[in-house]
Amino acid sequence: MLCTCCAVHSNVRLWIFISSILLLVESGSCVPVVDLKSPPMGFMSWERFRCTTDCENHPNDCINEELFRSTAEALLDQGLAAVGYTQVSIDDCWSAGRDPVTHRLVPDPRRFPSGMKALGNFLHDRNLTFGIYTDAGSKTCGGYAGSMGYQELDAQTFADWGVDFVKVDGCYIYNNTTHHTIHADYEAAFTAMGRAFHKASRKMVMSCDWPCYTGRNESAKPFETMYHEAGCNTWRNFADIDNRWNNVHHTIRHWATHWKALQAIPDGSFNSADMLVVGDDRYSPVPGQTILTIDQARLQLTFWALITSPLFIGADVRNINPAYRDILLNKHVIAINQDESRKQASCLVGCHPRPHNATADDFQVWGKPMKGGHSHAVAFFNVGSNTVASSIQVDLPLDGIVARCVDLWSNDPEEDVCNSGQGGTTSDWDIRPVRPGVLRIRALQVATTSQRLVRVDYYCDQEGDHQVALC
Ligand code: GLA
Repeated sequence: MLCTCCAVHSNVRLWIFISSILLLVESGSCVPVVDLKSPPMGFMSWERFRCTTDCENHPNDCINEELFRSTAEALLDQGLAAVGYTQVSIDDCWSAGRDPVTHRLVPDPRRFPSGMKALGNFLHDRNLTFGIYTDAGSKTCGGYAGSMGYQELDAQTFADWGVDFVKVDGCYIYNNTTHHTIHADYEAAFTAMGRAFHKASRKMVMSCDWPCYTGRNESAKPFETMYHEAGCNTWRNFADIDNRWNNVHHTIRHWATHWKALQAIPDGSFNSADMLVVGDDRYSPVPGQTILTIDQARLQLTFWALITSPLFIGADVRNINPAYRDILLNKHVIAINQDESRKQASCLVGCHPRPHNATADDFQVWGKPMKGGHSHAVAFFNVGSNTVASSIQVDLPLDGIVARCVDLWSNDPEEDVCNSGQGGTTSDWDIRPVRPGVLRIRALQVATTSQRLVRVDYYCDQEGDHQVALC
């Protein structure tokens, strides 16, 4: 389908719009080729495996077809695919450049001897999807061949391989030597990629790293253009994630500062906070041992779920510690991320503008109404390094009469934590409805980097005395 409205003068765009209505001719659209119902989920190789290409010395860690096949099997064996982690995504460092005659990208023949189409078939035979990486500039961030100048050829090559998702990075867009470019260059480079995806013979999700290259001010980023002109389904907003709590914390703070701008994106698009580091053993002196604590890992998944970020596992799922795998398997938390509303949570307490006081900055409450209006996800965090004391009390106006609250990280997800007054399985929190439509939360002694994620269910029938049925 032709992408008729990309990168043309606004009068021309208006003319195309009017004539397409008058003539009832299907003119095509620049919105993403795929209408994503929920953020993508799966595995992505960059966080743990980086650009490891020395397969002789690092046979288990190198970017080769065996890594992606064995990871696919592990997603299935560990139950991760069954809860939604169904995409296997190759990040950078897979190619050997371009064929000198056809100019098509070729995968490194030593590391991908069966070729990419065979890998795509392997994944599709197992009901998994296939993700790959390119760059809208002349080179990838790792210095491999980029798609600039070859957009249509590359999009069609990916289509021929059966690719379902393409991560489009933003290095080397301005020229071959610098990462620092100006906004117009990004718009031109990513809309050229978007047009190419519209022409390709297979529908592919386009994930754009564009906004992480254009500074920290989310209010200044052209999300409408990214969605409506370039056709990006999802985009990376902020710096690369790393397997350290400080780095995850930094990302959460960025969201807390810019949450309103990050929420104001086109319906159907998704901000990305980058990969999950839950269960990742990179930096650990002992293979298989994680760096994040259980609480920190839960906090990351809780937060990524609330902000409807794609959920790409960055850990080596073939050797993941079962306690961390179980965090990734929490289907109640995944349901919040995948909720049909496609909406990012609002920050209710502790975000911008806020008092410049360490404890207040570190105590945050986020909430998100779920599709159907019969429940609401509410999370309370202490992201800082001080224990939060008993002085914090918040009254949250919610949408209906609270029937019960379920602590989504509890061992007993049936227990009603609102009406017990205990705030879940520990006594860190006191959560209870204080009057119709108002939920009171008191933080008692909330340990550092801890969180609670509660789903508040309402009575369906809020008329008179008939508050009996849960939906
Ligand atoms: C950039 C991206 C990372 C990864 C690397 C690959 O840094 O932000 O996610 O894709 O490039 O080189």
